[in-house]
Amino acid sequence: MLESLEAGHTSSVRLRVNGEWYELSLDNRVALLDVLREGLGLTGSKKGCDHGQCGACTVLVDGRRVNSCLLLAVALDGARVTTVEGLG
Ligand code: FES
Repeated sequence: MLESLEAGHTSSVRLRVNGEWYELSLDNRVALLDVLREGLGLTGSKKGCDHGQCGACTVLVDGRRVNSCLLLAVALDGARVTTVEGLG
């Protein structure tokens, strides 16, 4: 159990963000919000409460509104993500 929580456990994830595909190698524990902000430099989605309460991190995943701070990025392989930068 403890071994699975150690750093260094990564997965390959394909995400289509604002119309562009990315092949990412991600820590299994990282939230979608952190991938967008720190990995891809898309800072339009904000980290407010980081607990699913405020909605500052809202993005669209496959057309559905979600709190990206609550979603593990590794669970979204093949998903279409739209941030505020991709609107308009
Ligand atoms: Fe508040 Fe995600 S940061 S809901």
